[in-house]
Amino acid sequence: MHILLLGAGGREHAFAWKLTQSKRCTKLFIAPGNSGTAAHGENVALNPLDFEAVGQFVLAHQIGMVVVGPEEPLVRGIWDYFQADAQLRSILLIGPSKAGAVLEGSKAWAKQFMQRHQVPTAAYREFTADQLAEGLAYLAQHPLPVVLKADGLAAGKGVVICQTHAEADAELREMLGGKFGAAGDRVVVEAFLDGIEFSVFALTDGKNYVILPEAKDYKRIFDHDKGPNTGGMGAVSPVAFVDDAMWQKVEQQIIKPTIKGLHKEKIPYTGFVFFGLISVNNEPYVIEYNCRMGDPETEVVLPRLKTDLVMALQNCAQGTLGRVKIRADKRAATTVFLVSGGYPGNYEKGKTITGLDKIKGSLAFHAGMRNAGDAVVTDGGRVLAITSFGKDLAAALKKSNRNARLVQFEGKFFRKDIGKDVQKLADSTKS
Ligand code: AMP
Ligand code: GLY
Repeated sequence: MHILLLGAGGREHAFAWKLTQSKRCTKLFIAPGNSGTAAHGENVALNPLDFEAVGQFVLAHQIGMVVVGPEEPLVRGIWDYFQADAQLRSILLIGPSKAGAVLEGSKAWAKQFMQRHQVPTAAYREFTADQLAEGLAYLAQHPLPVVLKADGLAAGKGVVICQTHAEADAELREMLGGKFGAAGDRVVVEAFLDGIEFSVFALTDGKNYVILPEAKDYKRIFDHDKGPNTGGMGAVSPVAFVDDAMWQKVEQQIIKPTIKGLHKEKIPYTGFVFFGLISVNNEPYVIEYNCRMGDPETEVVLPRLKTDLVMALQNCAQGTLGRVKIRADKRAATTVFLVSGGYPGNYEKGKTITGLDKIKGSLAFHAGMRNAGDAVVTDGGRVLAITSFGKDLAAALKKSNRNARLVQFEGKFFRKDIGKDVQKLADSTKS
């Protein structure tokens, strides 16, 4: 089968790497792709948000399956566009309908959905601009810290944790005043949960689901979770504190009611559900849903996946996921992101990258990278994810760090402590 993969990040390079390991994939196209995906298929200059162009390409190139990497085409309704077209309807598309993608596209909708289906999450209220006075009064009596979230997609910047009432007051005014454009027309105010975060992924056909290996993402720019939030500086899998007892709670209290809820509400969903979770005193709560795989979590989850991914996705799109068994590599995987100097603030692109040929014993997933003549240059904030396996996280991290030092570009930065907290917890429960 010919497959078209939409997206251009490290997640998509990991998908391209995994999809092409399947005999069922006869040809892979990636739109638009990057220097890494080009090694696994043909990059095509298509905008994933131009559904008409995507549809024409699919028909012209006998594509049997479209795998959607990022959330934006899903939130804008690419699944619905394919369904509405007599010729495109039969193409397998991995990703939810617009009605399903709203789990990520609207935080207020997701909170209402969780309430309807008794999925544990932080207590909250939502406010629109004409409820500003009510919102300010609510904030004034809210315990600190308090979390403010712009309802819509805000490029990962829409969540603000306020430590003082003055800060919360100003933030609510700014969000409702248009700081994030239409994404902030509605603001969710929720209780702060103090715990440890982790990510869980399900693939669902709208009725059945399978669970992928869990992961933990490291969002802050500096070691020990200091500094501003980024798209993710690294990830690990497995996550030691997610033991059998925790998995039981996650599946029964969170995954099952979510998938059942989608089914009950007749929301078509053939794709990944990403559960951003937090464990508070060993009880899991949902911080957020995403309607796609995580980045950089994919760079550790897919390498650990032993199941044929194309087979699993075919069953997903055809409603037969019940037949699929997920098998995972027992080894630990870590990924360490090399990022551009200045990221997540301003940074320069176009820096020549050297030393890629020196990487040994790790996988190098390209993210913000592109080919420029004979050279490879930086093309984004997050540049390269270096994934390694090890008997434990410490061994895997050692390899990722060693290879991270061998790759050079002006301004290169990476965190040195990815996975160390999880490893420490694992060591303390062993002894
Ligand atoms: P999000 O953009 O929804 O992923 O949120 C960004 C980050 O904000 C999360 O990864 C958490 O670290 C933090 N966060 C969001 N909601 C809460 C909450 N209710 N309590 C504590 N931290 C939160
Ligand atoms: N790693 C978090 C995300 O993909 O949104």
